[in-house]
Amino acid sequence: MIGEKHLSMLLKVCMVTGATSGIGKQTALELAAMGATVILVGRNHQKCMRTSEMINAKVPTADVDFIVADLSSQEQVQDLAAEFRRRYNRLDVLVNNAGGVFLRRQTSVDGIEMTFALNHLNYFLLTNLLLDILRTSAPSRVVNVASGAHRNSPLDFDDLQAEKNYVFRNAYGQSKFANIIFTYELARKLEGTGVIANVLHPGLVATNIGRDNGILAKLVQPLIFRRGLPVEEGARTVVYLASSAEVEGVTGKYFFKERETKSDPATYREEDWRRLWEISAQMTGLVGGMDSLSGSR
Ligand SMILES: NC(=O)c1ccc[n+]([C@@H]2O[C@H](COP(=O)([O-])OP(=O)(O)OC[C@H]3O[C@@H](n4cnc5c(N)ncnc54)[C@H](OP(=O)(O)O)[C@@H]3O)[C@@H](O)[C@H]2O)c1
Repeated sequence: MIGEKHLSMLLKVCMVTGATSGIGKQTALELAAMGATVILVGRNHQKCMRTSEMINAKVPTADVDFIVADLSSQEQVQDLAAEFRRRYNRLDVLVNNAGGVFLRRQTSVDGIEMTFALNHLNYFLLTNLLLDILRTSAPSRVVNVASGAHRNSPLDFDDLQAEKNYVFRNAYGQSKFANIIFTYELARKLEGTGVIANVLHPGLVATNIGRDNGILAKLVQPLIFRRGLPVEEGARTVVYLASSAEVEGVTGKYFFKERETKSDPATYREEDWRRLWEISAQMTGLVGGMDSLSGSR
């Protein structure tokens, strides 16, 4: 499970969102096994408890903690960041991983289309709220879990919340496109700070994603994912980007199977990076806020 190319994770503090299932859960387990202090973030207290117990059972020396937050709610993302600060004074690795697929259009408590709120704005807001602590902990890392589904899904800036036409596959693909261009802009803004930011596609992985869509999805989803990779494979590139010595100093790159590769050509338009950043800062109330890096470029 742990290759020699990995840095020692002893004394490293890692936060993993969406750590109660699938790729995030496996990532948390592996980072804990490498000696890191791991803070699980999940929306369900019981699931956080169970995941923490599972990790402790498999890795008796594990140092695992958890914080409960519904990451589709901006207030809860704010509370999560505040609670983290109360408990810790450093953050070496932030893994933004929590996400979902929503067959029908729905809105978050903030009135924002759910896929955009959970899959993108959550990454944006949480990262910005923790940037100062990441910077004082440098060298540190942000790892954003995107998807190959971003291909052929350029952001429709005129309809970011799919108000005109909601197709779940497009909404998901665009949110993953947003993960990528957010990472590119973040890396650009963080140049020279010692904080690196990279983004990845985990492959098609057999997880619970998509099950939050009623009984039909619960029945169909396991069939679709029967051909998916085991979670150990799905977590591989996440763990690699969080811990590998090979990635030291590498920033603003897209990875698949532990290799740097190109994302969709449309993700390299820098004006889109800036535009999404500005819109996201407005939608999360970060404009002019603390250390949001949302100033001019
Ligand atoms: N599976 C794939 O084939 C695949 C492919 C490409 C990319 N990805 C990406 O991989 C990431 C992880 O997905 P997965 O496949 O591991 O799916 P998963 O098994 O469904 O895990 C998703 C995690 O996110 C959490 N989550 C969902 N909604 C949340 C909310 N509102 N607030 C807080 N946490 C929430 C879930 O919590 P619960 O445990 O409470 O449900 C769970 O811990 C996602 O970003 C996804 O886009 C997956």
